[in-house]
Amino acid sequence: MLVTLEGIDGSGKSTLHAALRELLADLDPVFTREPGATWVGDAVRRAIAEQIDPVTEATLFVADHAAHLATVVRPALAEGKLVISDRYSDSRYAYQSVTLQGIIPEPEQWLRAMHNGWSIIPDRTFLCVLPIDEALTRLKPAGAREHFEKREVLEKVQNNYLAYARNEPSRFVVVDAMLEKEAIAEFVAGAIRQDLKSGKKKRKK
Ligand code: TMP
Repeated sequence: MLVTLEGIDGSGKSTLHAALRELLADLDPVFTREPGATWVGDAVRRAIAEQIDPVTEATLFVADHAAHLATVVRPALAEGKLVISDRYSDSRYAYQSVTLQGIIPEPEQWLRAMHNGWSIIPDRTFLCVLPIDEALTRLKPAGAREHFEKREVLEKVQNNYLAYARNEPSRFVVVDAMLEKEAIAEFVAGAIRQDLKSGKKKRKK
């Protein structure tokens, strides 16, 4: 079963990812992330830091995803493992739809077309949602932030995520990221166990 954690910067999903390591240790999941689980991730981090051309950045994120699928996700799923990824394809749709606005005619369609037919759709996606002001206070001081971590960008990104959750209610679970982090982790861990029990792990290829 493939589980993904999504949300804007500052939404606490990386803290949640870390907490699930302990809470789900008995299931021996594969914990992974995008970007950064492959060597392509290093190029992506450099692209983010250097604020290169948005199309270059977007295609590097997709390249990292392809390498991530090939080297981590597919092999683990083939072994019947539970895979929990901190960010995945919805990050591309939500963020690069914003960064490619005005550069590519229909950014979201273009991004989805780049994934269609070969990528793997998650079985379950937990979307951590919170007020933008709260996310900004949880982030680094303004001068040290990545170029995504601005109010205008994060507002649009979160609205994109919420639209995806509305369109795919059977996959998305929206999590109130203002709750105590322990409560969030317990809820998500419980929901994952429930999914495993109810057979979501049986993937249709
Ligand atoms: P991180 O903070 O989860 O490590 O992710 C780094 C940044 O990269 C974060 O601001 C979100 C952004 N990002 C995208 O814009 N598109 C993507 O496809 C992914 C995976 C991350």
